[in-house]
Order: sequence, then C-alpha cells, then structure tokens
Amino acid sequence: MSARNLRDLSRDTCLIAPSILAADFTILGEEVRAVEVAGADLLHLDVMDGHFVPNLSFGPAIVSAIRPLSELLFDVHLMLTNPTSYVESFVDAGADHITIHVEADDDVADALELIHSRNITAGISLRPDTDVETLRPYLDSVELILVMTVEPGFGGQSFRHDVIAKIEKLRAWLDADGLPVQLQVDGGIDTATAPLAFQAGARNLVAGTSVFRSPDGVTAVIEELRQS
Ligand code: DX5
Ligand code: ZN
Repeated sequence: MSARNLRDLSRDTCLIAPSILAADFTILGEEVRAVEVAGADLLHLDVMDGHFVPNLSFGPAIVSAIRPLSELLFDVHLMLTNPTSYVESFVDAGADHITIHVEADDDVADALELIHSRNITAGISLRPDTDVETLRPYLDSVELILVMTVEPGFGGQSFRHDVIAKIEKLRAWLDADGLPVQLQVDGGIDTATAPLAFQAGARNLVAGTSVFRSPDGVTAVIEELRQS
C-alpha cells in the first residue's frame, strides 16, 4: 500500500505519478484502480481554470468521486490564476498534496501556508520559460518542486529538452542544502525521456499519455518508466 503522506515517500528511487488527464473518463474509476494495482506511487490530478492555462479540466467533484476508490496519494496540480480560493475545496475533496504555480497572481507564500495549515504537503511549480531563480525563496517552504517539461495546459506534448538544465540546477540546490524535497517533472515523459529527467536529478515522474494510452498496458509501462 502506498503512503498518503508525501514526506513518507522515497526521494532517492524513481516514483511514478500517472496523470489522469490522459485516462478514459468514461471508466475513470477503473483507470485509477488499474494504475494503483500496476504499482503507481501517487496519482497526479491536473486542475485547469481556462485562465492560467488555455484549457479546462475538472474540479473538486471529480476528486471526491474517485477518492473512495483508491488508497493512492492524491497529488493535485493546480494550474490556476487564483489557487488560494480553491485550496480548501480540494483538501475537503481528498487531496493529500497540492502544488501551485510560482506564476499565480495570488501571494505564493500565503497560498503555501494555507495548504500547510490543512495538514497536507505543498509544492511549487514553474512553466518551462520561467526563470528557475523565482523558486529559490520557496525551497524550504515546500515538500515538492514540479518542473514543467511542457507548457502547461494539455497532455500529449513533446518533452522540452531545454528544461533539463533547470532540473539539474534544482537538484544541485536541494542537495547542497540537504533539503527533503521531492523533485518532480511533468510533461512528455515516456520511456525515452524518463531517463533524461532521472539523470538530471528528478525522482518523481508524472506521466499521462505514456501510461494511460500505452499499447503494452499500464503495468509494463510503469515498470519500464521506473527503470529509468
Ligand atoms: C499538463 C499537465 C500534465 C500532463 C502530462 O498541463 O500538467 O500533467 O497531463 O501529460 P503527458 O504525460 O501526456 O505529457
Ligand atoms: Zn500536472
């Protein structure tokens, strides 16, 4: 059984976080159960507001609908201009972890504090073209850093190789200060790109299309991604 507290997950081995954005929503419960049985370490839930990103996905109702079906850690990625207004709803719906974006309009420190005040872990993310230095003030206020390796908003895009240097820099900062922070990557992760992210220092890989649309089945692809 997987831990529902992000602090209890390994930061040294390669963790796999399937993103349900690429699941078949007509059988969402079965899709979630399938990746849990296949050995997923956490479940990544992509929330979009049609403003911060040019797409809409789903809200707290979907999170609470699948919550009783799974023991996986629910890792909620808020691609929202105003995440602060929605933190409470997602915690009530069953989020175990919430990541917000450094580019959000809300005060980032306040949003992280609000997430922690609900006794769950907090993460911070950045778009591919955002300067990595913007994360520096928050490194010791988060349990996870999410490096976007595609422009957020849509699944199925190609991995941005130019982001690798950013992953390497964050890995170096975290190691230098001995910070117990998960380094997660998201976007275009498949069996070809997962090793690149791992070599750069990421240990937590979000994968949507490559997991849920794998011709080999979810168990095989999760195992292969983990071998990165
Ligand atoms: C993009 C999302 C990603 C996306 C990943 O905005 O944050 O989690 O679903 O999908 P793939 O793995 O298909 O790139
Ligand atoms: Zn995501």
